[in-house]
Amino acid sequence: MPIDFHALAEKYGTPLYVYDFDQMRENYRRLKEAFAGSKSLIAYAVKANSNLSVISLFGKLGAGADCVSLGEILRARTAGIEPYRIIFSGVGKRDDEIEAALKEGILMINLESEAEMHRVEEVAQRLGQEARISIRVNPNVDPQTHPYISTGLHENKFGVEIDRAKRMYIYAKNSDWLDPVGIHFHIGSQLTELEPIKEAASIVADLVRSLAAIGIEIRFFDVGGGLGVVYRDETPIDVEEYAKVITESIKGLDLTIICEPGRYLTANAGWLLTRVLYEKNNGAKRFVIVDAAMNDLMRPTLYQAYHGVEYLEPDAKERGEATPADLVGPICESGDWLAKERLLPPTRSGDLLAIRSAGAYGFTMASNYNTRGRPAEVACEQGQCRLIRDRENFEDQIRLEKGHLEA
Ligand code: LLP
Repeated sequence: MPIDFHALAEKYGTPLYVYDFDQMRENYRRLKEAFAGSKSLIAYAVKANSNLSVISLFGKLGAGADCVSLGEILRARTAGIEPYRIIFSGVGKRDDEIEAALKEGILMINLESEAEMHRVEEVAQRLGQEARISIRVNPNVDPQTHPYISTGLHENKFGVEIDRAKRMYIYAKNSDWLDPVGIHFHIGSQLTELEPIKEAASIVADLVRSLAAIGIEIRFFDVGGGLGVVYRDETPIDVEEYAKVITESIKGLDLTIICEPGRYLTANAGWLLTRVLYEKNNGAKRFVIVDAAMNDLMRPTLYQAYHGVEYLEPDAKERGEATPADLVGPICESGDWLAKERLLPPTRSGDLLAIRSAGAYGFTMASNYNTRGRPAEVACEQGQCRLIRDRENFEDQIRLEKGHLEA
């Protein structure tokens, strides 16, 4: 059943995030089925969309969670994900986060450096509890994506080189406090080319083989996330082929495949609804000013990302000729734009627009810049829509501040 954006905007106001849970479920099912012939765990990358209802939706389908902070681990736990399905990734884990993760009993900690391995060992020893670990290998392949979301080259801060990883596995194997159960790589996000994934998987699988030869048996092959989606005219990777490439790379090895998709599961199941405030021209340049801004959806500003825009007024055709306009927000920055040079008919104040593919890295990257409350979030499922996060108000924003009226 199509979602009635007008009714939702009327009821909950704008800017408003709307998610199609049926679509998210379908995205999960498609990926899970692609791995049907193998042991697999889909660990949803919570950072893409951390709303508890979203995490819980995937949890109920059998997903685990890929988390990059204690906050995300606690979100996953709060949403009902079992500890043995939770992975802790990230280059800079604090002691208190490592300790809490160990106490939760999560599946494994993905290590990103030797220094971190020693820290995890220390914490594990202090707790008297062995830590299950995995090492993030940096296979030095070019994922051919935006430089800000490319992570698998030596010039990026992520992971460790193959040789160092091998030395770390040997050290971990000999440690009383580390149990090397997994191996991990993640070469970037919004990937649309299969070849770099294939290359990375085969490099890492070879490392698994050489570890097996010296008695180190890895059980989990964590291929990261990164599956790209269509924002404009991209040709996304076919998930059947993706699964095939991964499965073939580990032929002969007894491994559970873990993958950590975020964007693939949520991006195209989300919209940001916004209303027109004003129109103006500066010389020949036309601007449509809307009530959503870079604080609500940061991707255009940060990555020059393209998001489709749907103009939702039914009488669009009668309005007159559509001409190119920039869709901009109320924030005091020239970088505050949501879309550039899009064909829009003459608009009126109150007209409704939907910004597409906003289900991943939309709300989670939102901020309170300019003391703007973050949008409300709504979930639609089998024809029913419900609020899953209230709009932030002024009181919410100042709640933690103090001392301003003291002498
Ligand atoms: N696993 C690891 C270790 C990651 O670093 C990431 C994303 C994922 C999984 C999930 O990647 P996905 O399947 O969503 O591509 N804010 C950027 C994306 C940053 C991605 C960071 N890491 C954006 O809006 O495009």
